[in-house]
Amino acid sequence: MAEKKTWEKFFDAHAPVYEDNVFTKNTFREVDFLLEELALQPGDSVLDVGCGTGRHSIELAKRGYAVTGLDLSSEMLARAAYAASAAGVNVGWIHADATRFILPRKYDCAICLCEGSFGLLGQGDDPIDQPLSILCNISRSLKPQAKAVLTVLNATAMIRRHTNKDIAEGRFDPLTLVESSECPPREGLPAIAVRERAFIPTELHLLFRLAGMSVLNMWGGTAGNWGRRDLDLDEIEIMIVARKIAEPSAAGGVEQHA
Ligand SMILES: C[S@@+](CC[C@H](N)C(=O)[O-])C[C@H]1O[C@@H](n2cnc3c(N)ncnc32)[C@H](O)[C@@H]1O
Repeated sequence: MAEKKTWEKFFDAHAPVYEDNVFTKNTFREVDFLLEELALQPGDSVLDVGCGTGRHSIELAKRGYAVTGLDLSSEMLARAAYAASAAGVNVGWIHADATRFILPRKYDCAICLCEGSFGLLGQGDDPIDQPLSILCNISRSLKPQAKAVLTVLNATAMIRRHTNKDIAEGRFDPLTLVESSECPPREGLPAIAVRERAFIPTELHLLFRLAGMSVLNMWGGTAGNWGRRDLDLDEIEIMIVARKIAEPSAAGGVEQHA
């Protein structure tokens, strides 16, 4: 069996306390927001990449959508499956790495929220290939013209938190916008070394284009505080609303829809 990736180890151990995080408490209103943005038809299909404990997946399923949740952490998924059955809803759960998945069907929309994989780098992950492969996999899983909503870390806020001392001591790399830290997954457990990548809006436009998607909107989208507000330098997360406009090719780049 392949060795677990860093974030898999982290979230397997973090799973029992994940929903104690304050930023998870707004799920009902977040789903209202998503439904306004995505303009879905009753019964449409939703792919939730990095679904975690399934809070958005389950709320969407309760409202009648056909949801598939995909995550790297079997412990997060186990909690998601338990919560779905307690809520009496049917959700498909897939244990997979967002950088590698291929699904047999196409979805009416995708969500990837609170860095649901995007920019959560394994120790060996390339800071450009990791997010690009996730976007290409999401794009390949979407029907033509389908929308996606992602929230990702904002580089300006990350840069403002760091100093040249952090660069010298390896806590922040200004060339890749990667923050390295040691974080215990829950109280009493030893810290795990993790890497998180932040993004600037222009490179997000480029990455989405390379994956065959066009960015429709970008807003301040910090977890627990979504709104259609202009991005500022201190916003922790950026929300991106995008539409699939072309098929990503196997080699990267795109093939235009006929
Ligand atoms: C902060 S949680 C967000 C969960 C959920 N989207 C939410 O909004 O509550 C990040 C999730 O991404 C998952 N994840 C991290 N790297 C991943 C990868 N490469 N592929 C799939 N899931 C990944 C983690 O296991 C975790 O469940």
